[in-house]
Amino acid sequence: MEEEQVGEEYLFKIVVTGDSAVGKSNLLSRFARDEFDHNSKATIGVEFQTQVVEVDGKEIKAQVWDTAGQERFRAVTSAYYRGAVGALVVYDISRNTTFVNIKRWLDELNTHCDTTVARMLVGNKCDLENIRDVSVEDGKNLAEEEGLFFIETSALDSTNVKTAFEIVIREIY
Ligand code: GTP
Ligand code: MG
Repeated sequence: MEEEQVGEEYLFKIVVTGDSAVGKSNLLSRFARDEFDHNSKATIGVEFQTQVVEVDGKEIKAQVWDTAGQERFRAVTSAYYRGAVGALVVYDISRNTTFVNIKRWLDELNTHCDTTVARMLVGNKCDLENIRDVSVEDGKNLAEEEGLFFIETSALDSTNVKTAFEIVIREIY
């Protein structure tokens, strides 16, 4: 494991990937600041936020990295993944293309990180049940095939956002 020890605490780097507009930045702002932005702009380059989480009475610092889903806005990929011990690979349950592209995001993750990285497949925007385009079953099956955890979230109404990060952090820890 590559976690760094900072005094009494642990620092875990977690990366968030997936197509543009699946809600990566909003998952992060919901997790770190309990905020949601209806008009969020596409991320340019890389941003990260640190959030302290308590697991089994120990303080864990989750340093969560967010990058652009759009190719033209992406920063150097290898630097983005370097030292990551957890990954959230995100699609939008209302857009099947984002689910189809998960394979590509997993390929990229596998190229840059070893297999010990804790991985979670995240179907975001589960509040959009009325326009669902990817079944829960399809999400579960893909996760099982690829050996990933699976969860559906909503950054909009907060469903499972904290849980998604906590499951990954627990697996690392
Ligand atoms: P890039 O930075 O371009 O890679 O996109 P992103 O994955 O960071 O997406 P972002 O968080 O900017 O969200 C894109 C759009 O989806 C915004 O209009 C958000 O308000 C909306 N959105 C994000 N999460 C949810 C959600 O859980 N439910 C709904 N209904 N909309 C969401
Ligand atoms: Mg973004």
